[in-house]
Amino acid sequence: MSGALAGKRIVLGVSGGIAAYKAVELARQLALQGAEIQAALTRSALAFVQSLPFEVLTGRAPISRMFPIEGAAHPGDMPHISLTGRADLIVIAPATANLIGKFAGGIGDDFLSTLLLSARSPVLVVPAMNPRMWSSPAVRENVKKLRERGHLVMEPGVGRMARAEEGEGSGRMPEPEAILAEVLRLLVPPHDLAGMRLVVSAGPTRERWDAVRYLTNRSSGKMGYALAAAAAARGAEVTLVSGPAGLPDPPGLRTVRVESAAEMREAVLAAWKEAHAGIMAAAVSDYRPAQPTERKHKKKDGPLTLKLERTADILAEMGKAKGKRLLVGFAAETGDLTKNAKDKLRRKGLDLIVANLIAGEEDAMGADAATAILIRAGGKEEHFPRLRKDALASAILDRLAEMWQKVKSTK
Ligand SMILES: Cc1cc2nc3c(=O)[nH]c(=O)nc-3n(C[C@H](O)[C@H](O)[C@H](O)COP(=O)(O)O)c2cc1C
Repeated sequence: MSGALAGKRIVLGVSGGIAAYKAVELARQLALQGAEIQAALTRSALAFVQSLPFEVLTGRAPISRMFPIEGAAHPGDMPHISLTGRADLIVIAPATANLIGKFAGGIGDDFLSTLLLSARSPVLVVPAMNPRMWSSPAVRENVKKLRERGHLVMEPGVGRMARAEEGEGSGRMPEPEAILAEVLRLLVPPHDLAGMRLVVSAGPTRERWDAVRYLTNRSSGKMGYALAAAAAARGAEVTLVSGPAGLPDPPGLRTVRVESAAEMREAVLAAWKEAHAGIMAAAVSDYRPAQPTERKHKKKDGPLTLKLERTADILAEMGKAKGKRLLVGFAAETGDLTKNAKDKLRRKGLDLIVANLIAGEEDAMGADAATAILIRAGGKEEHFPRLRKDALASAILDRLAEMWQKVKSTK
């Protein structure tokens, strides 16, 4: 099947709201784009729509029950687990107040809510409900929770509700075309970084001080890997220089594995020579033991003093002879975030800096989501809510693509 969504696997969850009839049209539009769709309807959804149109449009029987097992690919298959392992995206349209509450609270008491507990892909939640329900404190809190976990909750449309007496209000399900546009944005990246050679650094570094011990930090590498993978999907030729992050090589790009700040410097500067742009997301150690030993240090009574020396400042070196190349840096700060990030942007000659808090509840280090402020060389500041790192990566790359178009047009 051709189409923009060919080869993409989508689970379409439908819960019991009056807007469930619009999910049939959504299934049709997703199928026309070539998506492989498995519909999952709640029992309440079946009070509003029938299984049959979904079965005909998607070519698969929708799943509605946990017991007895429905939709198993083979004996022993548990679709509530296996489906999410394969899915590129889960779309819940319409999402009732009830389903949103169960998803936020981790309740799995039917097929769709249980499937959501094993979700690994992004989840696009499309709420639809009475405006009074949408504005209830419980729904507000649950929506906030889902967004903080990095899920995408669309804003319901404003307009006439299903029943004339409900009049105008916010709670209407967005139209299938708007949902399809969101799905395309999530699953079909633009090719706007084609022709760009990009170096991305990621992860922590390790600075050895004897045969078995080293100094490191909490960086997981997730942000840099998300950036590298998304940039490659958008057409860039990516070299990912990774410290010891414990993540698999992302497909479609070159990964260079390093350990220390010195090795990171060598690999990054080599790739930077040929690059059009660099995104430095690694948490490079600023210090290393001044006198590392080959042998294991024998423990003795009393304290041990380790003397540390500065490592090279890779970002500053890259910024110095930057020319027309684009350079994006990260600032991880425990306080005075904007001020420190702006200082760093200026000192290192960056085009864009991504400022992350690494303290308290907003801590970005090691987490799957981060709260970020993006600051441009011109001073423009954009504040983002806590987002999954892949969503933040795409926002950063949108800015990079915009700057790249400008650079290309002034050549
Ligand atoms: C006629 C009718 C329309 C409804 N429409 C909605 C709706 O649009 N949104 C919503 O959140 N709940 C709506 N409900 C309530 C849900 O159907 C109810 O909370 C149900 O338990 C949801 O189950 P589910 O989340 O498992 O699908 C409606 C109920 C009725 C009787």
